[in-house]
Amino acid sequence: MMEKWIEERLIETIGLERYKHSLGVMNTAIELAEIYGVDIEKARKAGLLHDCAKFKDQINLLKMAYDFDIILDSVMEHNIQLLHGPIGSKIAEVEYNIKDRDVLDAIYYHTTGRERMTVLDKIIYIADYIEPGRNFKGVNEVRKLAYENLDKSILLAMDNTIKFVIDKGQLIHLDTIKSRNYLKIRLKLE
Ligand SMILES: [Fe+2]
Ligand SMILES: [Fe+2]
Repeated sequence: MMEKWIEERLIETIGLERYKHSLGVMNTAIELAEIYGVDIEKARKAGLLHDCAKFKDQINLLKMAYDFDIILDSVMEHNIQLLHGPIGSKIAEVEYNIKDRDVLDAIYYHTTGRERMTVLDKIIYIADYIEPGRNFKGVNEVRKLAYENLDKSILLAMDNTIKFVIDKGQLIHLDTIKSRNYLKIRLKLE
């Protein structure tokens, strides 16, 4: 992987800044994959490509979702940002030749999470939150936790995100609530 054409296509479509962010996510995901026993190649591909649909140019994401036969729920319809996960999964498959379902799913759910996230899903979700370029209130606590207890770090990141989204008056996706509750129940049973 990490062939030249992938780097060039990513920089051209998502821009240099988001490409650097993607490298940060890739490297963090590889570190976490080593700790939590996940296939390094899957973590590398999913990390590098997770934002491949965060286009730098104005693009009609609704039309693109329609063209890819992505079924939109009402939250996605009203929060177009969330579409870059599902669309990214399709772009990774069609344009970057990724056939691995685990990788495509991790890209699909990297923004919302989902109930019963796989370990790879979790690694990409949290790597996106804590990669070295991230610098916001509360990130250090999540960063530390990610290397100690993956579930606890995701729960904290989701709680922070949900509070942030509520403060901004936006919609919360059902998959986020489901995965947050699922983790919460699991951790209580531990
Ligand atoms: Fe993203
Ligand atoms: Fe990202």
